[in-house]
Amino acid sequence: MNLSKRLEVVATLVDVGARVIDVGCDHAYLDIYLTKNNSNKCIATDINPNALENAKKNIKKHKLQNKIETILTDGLTSLDIKDDDNIVIAGMGTHTILDILKTNNLSNTLIISSNNDIELLRREVVKLGYYIDSEIFLFDKDKPYIIIKFIRGYKKYKDIDYVIGPILKNNTDYKKYLILKYNKILNSISKRKVLLRLKYKFKISILKIKL
Ligand SMILES: C[S@@+](CC[C@H](N)C(=O)[O-])C[C@H]1O[C@@H](n2cnc3c(N)ncnc32)[C@H](O)[C@@H]1O
Repeated sequence: MNLSKRLEVVATLVDVGARVIDVGCDHAYLDIYLTKNNSNKCIATDINPNALENAKKNIKKHKLQNKIETILTDGLTSLDIKDDDNIVIAGMGTHTILDILKTNNLSNTLIISSNNDIELLRREVVKLGYYIDSEIFLFDKDKPYIIIKFIRGYKKYKDIDYVIGPILKNNTDYKKYLILKYNKILNSISKRKVLLRLKYKFKISILKIKL
């Protein structure tokens, strides 16, 4: 089984021995890895019956039916979530993730790998009563990803903590990546769009000060 580098990093944030609710499990690769390597039991869910069938086949192939339960459901609907569970949501967009989180009871620990809009994700999950415990920035097959572990509780954040990340704001590799990204965007903006260009120049200068 080939676990992606991204899911391997997600696995490093999962509490050893915790029950994991893997929302949108697809092939259940993460669940198989966690039960074999991290002493977890898992509930692997997906909204798509075909994805869940693939998950079931893989789980059976690895003889892990007693450690991984599969449930066809939308998000966390109809699941009995316990405070100590680790909820993992990986490989979806922020809006879908927030829809799932806002309509359900949640556990104390959320591990999230969103495909987009990380700033919105940070702001909204913090509003739900969580703080950011860990943030990891990585490239998998040349694509950048940020994985965040949220824990129930309160920490005060500044705007920069939402925009760049309270932990990633101290990560030089991440800031260098952002400077490159914003420079590319800046070069593609017409000289006539003065305000938009200023916005990116400002972002770049802040990042350079903090390097
Ligand atoms: C791109 S795959 C990601 C699979 C795996 N979690 C990963 O990170 O590689 C997204 C999966 O989420 C499922 N999904 C999308 N929306 C969902 C929802 N509301 N509830 C449960 N699963 C959902 C899809 O069916 C699909 O299997």
